[in-house]
This record gives sequence, structure tokens and C-alpha cells, in this order.
Amino acid sequence: MSMKYLVPALAAVGGAYAQSSCSVSGTTTINSPADASALSACQTFSGSIAIATGLGQAVTIPGVRRITGDLVANNNSLIPSISADSLQTIGGAFILNELQILSTLSFPQLSQVDSIQWNALAGLQQLSFTTGVQQASELNIQNTQLQTLDGINLAVVDTVFITNNNYLNDISMQLGNITNSLNIESNGGNVSAIFPNLIWANNMTFRNVSQIALNSLVSVNGSLGFYSNEFSSLQCANLTTVGSNKGDLTIVSNQNLNNVSFPSLKKVGGGFSIQNNTDLMVIDGFSKLATITGAFDLYGDFTNVSAPALNEVDGAFNIQSSAQLSGCDAFQKLKSGSQIRGKFFCNGTVAKPSGVGSNPSVTGSGSSSKSTNTGAANAMYIPTAAAGVMGVVAALFGLL
Ligand SMILES: *[C@@H]1O[C@H](CO)[C@@H](O)[C@H](O)[C@H]1NC(C)=O
Ligand SMILES: *[C@@H]1O[C@H](CO)[C@@H](O)[C@H](O)[C@H]1NC(C)=O
Ligand SMILES: *[C@@H]1O[C@H](CO)[C@@H](O)[C@H](O)[C@H]1NC(C)=O
Ligand SMILES: *[C@@H]1O[C@H](CO)[C@@H](O)[C@H](O)[C@H]1NC(C)=O
Ligand SMILES: *[C@@H]1O[C@H](CO)[C@@H](O)[C@H](O)[C@H]1NC(C)=O
Ligand SMILES: *[C@@H]1O[C@H](CO)[C@@H](O)[C@H](O)[C@H]1NC(C)=O
Ligand SMILES: *[C@@H]1O[C@H](CO)[C@@H](O)[C@H](O)[C@H]1NC(C)=O
Ligand SMILES: *[C@@H]1O[C@H](CO)[C@@H](O)[C@H](O)[C@H]1NC(C)=O
Ligand SMILES: *[C@@H]1O[C@H](CO)[C@@H](O)[C@H](O)[C@H]1NC(C)=O
Ligand SMILES: *[C@@H]1O[C@H](CO)[C@@H](O)[C@H](O)[C@H]1NC(C)=O
Ligand SMILES: *[C@@H]1O[C@H](CO)[C@@H](O)[C@H](O)[C@H]1NC(C)=O
Repeated sequence: MSMKYLVPALAAVGGAYAQSSCSVSGTTTINSPADASALSACQTFSGSIAIATGLGQAVTIPGVRRITGDLVANNNSLIPSISADSLQTIGGAFILNELQILSTLSFPQLSQVDSIQWNALAGLQQLSFTTGVQQASELNIQNTQLQTLDGINLAVVDTVFITNNNYLNDISMQLGNITNSLNIESNGGNVSAIFPNLIWANNMTFRNVSQIALNSLVSVNGSLGFYSNEFSSLQCANLTTVGSNKGDLTIVSNQNLNNVSFPSLKKVGGGFSIQNNTDLMVIDGFSKLATITGAFDLYGDFTNVSAPALNEVDGAFNIQSSAQLSGCDAFQKLKSGSQIRGKFFCNGTVAKPSGVGSNPSVTGSGSSSKSTNTGAANAMYIPTAAAGVMGVVAALFGLL
């Protein structure tokens, strides 16, 4: 719908538009700065607003406090600035996509949005959100030049996706819970992920993160994964359960990691994997870990592994280290006592350590160095009833 058909309910009553609301069906397109200023007659705008692809000037939407639908600007290489001085709520999505020179985003009163979906904003370095967005069900920010997320401090969220923002070095929020998932990947070279109040989350994945804080985290219903991060220490002091609804705990290829401490963790309702963290020599940070519903799958260069409370592993058990390894005796007892149900392997001086299902070659044993690791096996569930399948694998690799 074009602007000339838009008739604000009280627009004609000069100046007296305090209670005005405007209603359109579908989307109203702003083709000029004048189209945008005309919206000032609408305190509440019922419908969606789109900014035209060819509009090459700053857009200012004054007066509007609430948009019930979406606010969208897509594929515009000319627009430098979008502002809305009074806008508090966007009932739908706030979508900004491929706006090459947009450098100013001024929404001083914005506090509530259903979703933020921003991608490919090559000129956007900061936000002017004075009040700050505190409520959104989805936060999805990719390929921007944002240096901070100042102006977005969510208390509640379903889904967070923050990737490929190369200058973003600070991701911190007051979030108490994440009801669906959080993904952080390939942001700034020294990015912190700080969630001091986060108590529970459904799924979380962290990649390429340099500092992390999850001090209050108590439970993760689905999976929790740390891949290719730069931090040297990983502490989750209060985390008691991962995968209560099935899900894995995965700590893989974190090249500086030298201390992992999960002193409260009791149960992982899926697979437990600590793999290829080349500086991690001692794994002794799981003093209460008792139950693993999937596979226990560790490989790397470590010298010591202990898990003194472990009494149930329903899947396979695999520890392979390139170093001389101590700690296997205790696990061998669990295998003998059937607390470990799947196939069992625990050894050091393995030439090419790898995951469950691989065929380790132990240096000095003279066996072949052939190694077959299908990463797919990492999070294998091996219910007792399916032991036949594992039997076949174990027989293939002579592990029983
Ligand atoms: C982007 O806008 C230009 C014109 O401004 C148009 O030619 C092009 O098709 C648009 N691309 C997409 C993906 O919408
Ligand atoms: C989720 O976190 C928010 C903010 O801390 C809190 O108000 C809400 O009660 C929490 N909900 C649940 C189900 O834990
Ligand atoms: C992030 O880690 C992946 C490996 O998981 C790597 O391929 C990628 O280059 C890293 N990205 C950055 C920005 O460091
Ligand atoms: C990385 O960020 C931390 C704070 O988060 C800071 O203390 C440290 O100096 C930064 N390192 C570099 C190399 O910039
Ligand atoms: C960790 O849990 C303890 C006991 O419930 C609590 O006293 C403490 O405040 C928690 N730590 C954080 C950082 O939430
Ligand atoms: C996740 O676990 C928390 C704490 O145990 C619980 O309050 C929440 O309802 C669970 N959420 C989902 C989505 O299952
Ligand atoms: C959460 O993790 C589980 C287990 O890995 C997976 O099946 C599920 O698809 C994930 N959900 C989301 C929303 O990422
Ligand atoms: C192991 O981690 C290093 C980074 O420390 C990475 O370069 C390498 O690709 C990883 N290897 C595997 C098999 O994932
Ligand atoms: C790892 O960190 C924990 C908690 O800070 C600490 O108690 C423990 O001594 C550290 N372990 C090593 C081997 O440095
Ligand atoms: C590692 O194992 C060796 C040999 O059993 C032992 O002497 C050493 O104290 C252990 N180190 C740790 C940190 O557990
Ligand atoms: C594991 O190492 C022990 C020596 O600690 C050796 O006797 C045993 O054969 C090795 N197991 C395999 C499968 O190589």
C-alpha cells in the first residue's frame, strides 16, 4: 500500500493526535522522508512498515510509539540513517538486511521487539538505543560491524544467534534463561561471552570465544557445546545437569584450554565428549559426575583422567591419549562391574588419538596406525538393548 492512501484516524484534527491510531492491512512502504514524517499522526501504527529499496535519504519516523507489525528495510545501499524518536514497541520483526552504508540506528525509546533479524549491515558500528531493548523472543545479528551490543540487554529470550560480527568483542546480557537456543560464533578476535545471571538454557553453542562466564548456570536441558574457543579456563561452578531432555556436553578443539572445572555436574543425558584440546593435560574437574546416558568419549594429549563419582555410562567408553596416561584402572573396574555398558577402550600412547568407533594404534604395540574416526559416533546412544550393534563394532576393532 502506498502512503497516499494512509489516513490516520485523527490526522485532520490539527495537533490533537495524542490518541490517534492508524490501521492498514498489509505493509505500508516509505518511499520518501515525507512519507515517514506523515506517520507522526499515528501513535499506534497497526500494520507493518517497509522502507523502499531505492530511498537514498535518512528516514525519520517521528511520534509513532508502537508498530503492531514489522519494521523492515532490505537491500538498500543508499540509506545512511533510520530513526524513530518515540518508538517503544515493535510487535513483529525488526528486519534490516543488506544496508551497506547504514551507520545510524537511533531508537532512543525502543524496549520491546518480537524479533531482531539483522544481517549484512557493513556500516553499522553502534546502536543509539538509550532505553535499551529488554524483551525479544529472537535476537539474530550477523555480518555487522557492531562493536558492542550496548542498547540490547535482554532479560528473556527464546533464540540468540550472533555470528560473523568481526568487530564485536563484548557480548554480555542479563538473561536469566534461554528457552530455545543460543549460538555464538566467529565474532571479534577477543570476544567475551558474559551471562552472569543465566540459570538455565535449552541449547547453547560457543565458538571462537575468548572469555566466558556462566557462573550462575545450573542446568542445560538440551546440549551444551564449546568448540574452537580461545579461553584457557572453563568453569561452570553451579552446573548440575546437561541434557535432562537428552543432549550432549561437548568440549572440542579449544586450543588454549588447560583447566576444565564442572565441580557440581552430576548427570549428562546424552554424550560426553572432550576432544582435541591440545593444552588440556589433566581432566579432574568432574568430581561429582555420576551418570552419562550416551557415550563417554575423550581424546587428546592428557596424562591424567579421573571421574571418581562415575557409576553409569550407558553408551561406549573411550579414552585415547597420545601421552602416557594414568587413570584407566578405575574405569576398567567400572567396565568389569558393568557400570559401563558399551564397548570399552582406555589407553595412553595412542599414535593418533580419536573418538568412539576408531581403531586406535598404541605406540610401541606394533599394531597398524590405521585410524577411522567417523565424527558421527561422538554422541552415540547405545541402549543396552542395542549392544549387538556395538558388539559388531567392538569385534571389528578387537576392543572387547
Ligand atoms: C536490490 O535492489 C536493486 C535495486 O535497488 C535490485 O536491482 C535488486 O534486484 C535487489 N536485490 C534483491 C535481492 O532484492
Ligand atoms: C526466565 O528468566 C526471567 C528473567 O530472569 C525470569 O523473569 C523468568 O521467571 C525466568 N523463567 C523461568 C521459567 O525460569
Ligand atoms: C572459528 O573457529 C572455526 C573452527 O571451528 C574456524 O574455522 C574459524 O576460522 C574461526 N573463526 C574465527 C573468526 O576465528
Ligand atoms: C581481551 O579482552 C579482555 C577483556 O575482556 C582484556 O582484558 C584483554 O586485555 C583483551 N586482550 C587483548 C589482546 O586485547
Ligand atoms: C551457586 O550456587 C550456590 C548454592 O546454590 C549459590 O549460593 C551461589 O550464589 C551460586 N553462584 C552463582 C554465581 O550463582
Ligand atoms: C529446562 O530446565 C529448567 C530447569 O530444570 C526448567 O525450568 C525448564 O522448564 C526447562 N525448559 C525446557 C524448555 O524444557
Ligand atoms: C538442541 O539440542 C538437541 C540435542 O542435541 C537437538 O536435538 C535439538 O535440535 C537442539 N535444538 C535446538 C533448538 O537447537
Ligand atoms: C584440533 O584442534 C586444532 C586447534 O587446536 C585444530 O587446528 C585442528 O583442526 C583440530 N583437529 C581436529 C581433528 O579437529
Ligand atoms: C582449575 O580451576 C579450578 C577452579 O578455579 C581450580 O580449583 C583448580 O585447581 C584448577 N586446576 C588446575 C589443574 O589448575
Ligand atoms: C597424574 O598421574 C601421575 C601418575 O599416576 C601422578 O603422579 C600425578 O600426581 C597425577 N597428577 C594429577 C594432577 O592428578
Ligand atoms: C593398553 O595399554 C596396556 C598397557 O597399559 C596394554 O597392556 C594394552 O594392550 C593396551 N590396550 C590396547 C588395546 O592397546
